[in-house]
Amino acid sequence: MKIAPSLLSCDFSVMGDEIKRMDKAGADWMHLDVMDGHFVPNITFGAPVIKWVRTYSDKPFDVHLMISEPLRYIDDFADAGADIITFHVECDSDIDATIDKIKSRGIKPGLVIKPNTPAEAVFPYLDKLALVLVMTVEPGFGGQSFMADMLPKVGAIKEECKRRGIDLLIEADGGIGEATIAQAAQAGVDVCVAGTAVFKADDAAQAIAKLQEY
Ligand code: DX5
Ligand code: ZN
Repeated sequence: MKIAPSLLSCDFSVMGDEIKRMDKAGADWMHLDVMDGHFVPNITFGAPVIKWVRTYSDKPFDVHLMISEPLRYIDDFADAGADIITFHVECDSDIDATIDKIKSRGIKPGLVIKPNTPAEAVFPYLDKLALVLVMTVEPGFGGQSFMADMLPKVGAIKEECKRRGIDLLIEADGGIGEATIAQAAQAGVDVCVAGTAVFKADDAAQAIAKLQEY
């Protein structure tokens, strides 16, 4: 299992150092949660912050946009050094135009679905995507409980991809830790985001290594 620590749970006053710490601890990707206080009821950070911390690790930066109008800001996140940009199928931007814009900047595009959104919502876009992110909590905050009932969506997306000969990664985000990762792995998830489970651990390297075993 690939593990992407969510920087949402880090000490923002030393975010660069926290990224360096996660890099050394063996993180596969860095997961950066961008929230606009409109699409979700929380505000985090934007492209300028990502640009500053980009130099602290060479690992892929997986930028999760929880914002209402992602299309308006793709250039900013591309300039900041994103490797993967995921945005929500429930957003207000045109989905195809946003995917095309991400690809035009040489970045891997991913679509995210909230808990109340069915897997089928991403089916029209699968052939253009590098990744689908299935939320296993309501987006907005770290530290929530894992929603195991989201996992059948992983199977449904995988099945549809297989049927159409599409190769993409499935990522899961929210409430993932030692107690829940086995279920995600069993469902066929390729990449797990982990905030609390990694940042609240005494030994981040050990926590990441354990999760990667699945
Ligand atoms: C929630 C974010 C997640 C969150 C995960 O909106 O997308 O990335 O930080 O945190 P944990 O692992 O604590 O649920
Ligand atoms: Zn996230």
